[in-house]
Amino acid sequence: MLSQEALVEIDSEVAKYPEGQERAALLAALRIAQDECGWISVDLMTYIAGILSVEPAKVAEVATFYTMYDLKPIGRYKISLCTNISCALRGSATITSHLQKRLGIGFGETTEDGRFTLMEVECLAACGGAPAALIGTNYYENLTPRRIDEILETLD
Ligand code: FES
Repeated sequence: MLSQEALVEIDSEVAKYPEGQERAALLAALRIAQDECGWISVDLMTYIAGILSVEPAKVAEVATFYTMYDLKPIGRYKISLCTNISCALRGSATITSHLQKRLGIGFGETTEDGRFTLMEVECLAACGGAPAALIGTNYYENLTPRRIDEILETLD
């Protein structure tokens, strides 16, 4: 289900922890699996559970808790928009409505062309630059509708 390269990478994460503590590498294993497969299916959770010798339910608990893990296929660019308190006070509602109107999708949805998935997330730890979003692997702060348009135009 995962490539040899991904398995070696997971092994190197497991090796960072004492013997018998393979579960400590769970977050890293999920990241590696998602990087390779694009999203985390139930089958993939079960597979990772086998690698780390943990119960599949434990993997599911972690995978469903953190918004960085995608439990269904997503678009080429995932836009994770923070709507928590600092961002809300600094205009995330305006950013939300601008993005939803421009992309024609709501939170948790993907555009028909498969380019963008829009997600609502809790604090991104970028409160000093609120409102903030994570697009792909890049942080963007002090967002305005105009800045959002500029960013989206740079993405292919
Ligand atoms: S509240 Fe939005 S980044 Fe912290």
